[in-house]
Amino acid sequence: MPESYIQNLFAERIGGAQYGKSQAIYKFEKIKRAKRAAMAAHPDQEIIDLGVGEPDEMAFPAVVEQLCSEARKPENRGYSDNGDIVLKQAAARYLERVCGVKGIDPETEVIHSIGSKAALSLLPAALINPGDVVLMTIPGYPVFGTHAKYYSGQVHNLPLTEQRHFLPDLDAIPSDVLKKAKVLVLNYPNNPTGASATPGFFACVVEFARKHDIVVIHDAAYAALVFEGEPLSFLATPGAKEVGLELHSASKSFNMTGWRCGFVAGNPLLVRAYGDIKDNSDSGQFLAIQHAAAYCFDHPEITQQIAAKYSRRMQGLVEVLRQAGFKAQKPKGSFFLYVQAPESALGKGGSRVAFANAEAVSQWLITEKLISTVPWDDAGAYLRFSVTFIANSAAEEHGILQEIGHRLTSAKFEFA
Ligand SMILES: Cc1ncc(COP(=O)(O)O)c(C=O)c1O
Repeated sequence: MPESYIQNLFAERIGGAQYGKSQAIYKFEKIKRAKRAAMAAHPDQEIIDLGVGEPDEMAFPAVVEQLCSEARKPENRGYSDNGDIVLKQAAARYLERVCGVKGIDPETEVIHSIGSKAALSLLPAALINPGDVVLMTIPGYPVFGTHAKYYSGQVHNLPLTEQRHFLPDLDAIPSDVLKKAKVLVLNYPNNPTGASATPGFFACVVEFARKHDIVVIHDAAYAALVFEGEPLSFLATPGAKEVGLELHSASKSFNMTGWRCGFVAGNPLLVRAYGDIKDNSDSGQFLAIQHAAAYCFDHPEITQQIAAKYSRRMQGLVEVLRQAGFKAQKPKGSFFLYVQAPESALGKGGSRVAFANAEAVSQWLITEKLISTVPWDDAGAYLRFSVTFIANSAAEEHGILQEIGHRLTSAKFEFA
């Protein structure tokens, strides 16, 4: 078939006339392919999937009930645009009760999102002109940066390293970059490192933002999933509301990834701009879903129960990985355990396999041990293990952890 004229019409931002022709295989596709091949080679064994970035369970029954009753109300049927007051008020209550953030005005300082991903994809339209720089952490969740580049913005990467407890070094940003920097995107508890921020770090971020006229977007997708202490909101930092926004989501905290609901809160001027872009992009999340999410934000004990499960699993996984030689340390929150990747492994017969990077380790673990993880090679070689594997009881969970230990200790890993 001759090539369609459509091929020449694609925008440069997605590859122009070359769109779709690249043979490059991306990380998650490589993982998928390796999993398929391992399953075909070992049809009698199960893959243990520690690569999944979303909860293993459904939303709680009371939340599903709330959705059903709200879905029956005729007044909830239509376009919700930027939403009614129900979720806004629940969000303000949640920020005060769970995160100690007082004084959020639900009318002017909160608007719902169709998930944080959607909010991160919309916000660049409000802020980025060609040539503007966005400061993004790597490894990290790239959506804001991707869209900033669509608007001809530039991304300056801030590496997250173990030495700095996976907090970016704001003092290391070159002055010419700072002059053009407009936005700093942060995410704590962090995907993929599992690291948490501290009030002191957030105070420095506010000072930095004020000094350099920078907007701070704090993506708090894992905010309340903490294993110790209280959830830490950026908005709880004195002065934070003058410099930025925080994004919360029902996805991970309430097992509602597919429901697509969260909220953006903080600086009223930024919230308004987000609302203007959003209003021109979507017609709002279904009010029944917004109201069910509002119910969740008024029931933070749901998140506490979910976090307790992840904490228990995390403890078990840390022990299992340590026995296999990994330097695993239990994070303070999220559901991610981020560990240094081994340099090599000795198999049963004593044969040594050297790994070029974390991706090679991840492929080897899938192929040889039927364990799936996500590799990160952006700032050192690391593997991300998620404790969102499917297990329907504590006993099943224990069995899976034992099986992980069994599979891993049959090799001897060597580390730098
Ligand atoms: C750091 C981070 N931000 C945002 C999201 C997306 O969240 P949502 O489901 O609310 O769009 C994810 C999902 O994996 C994430 O890891």
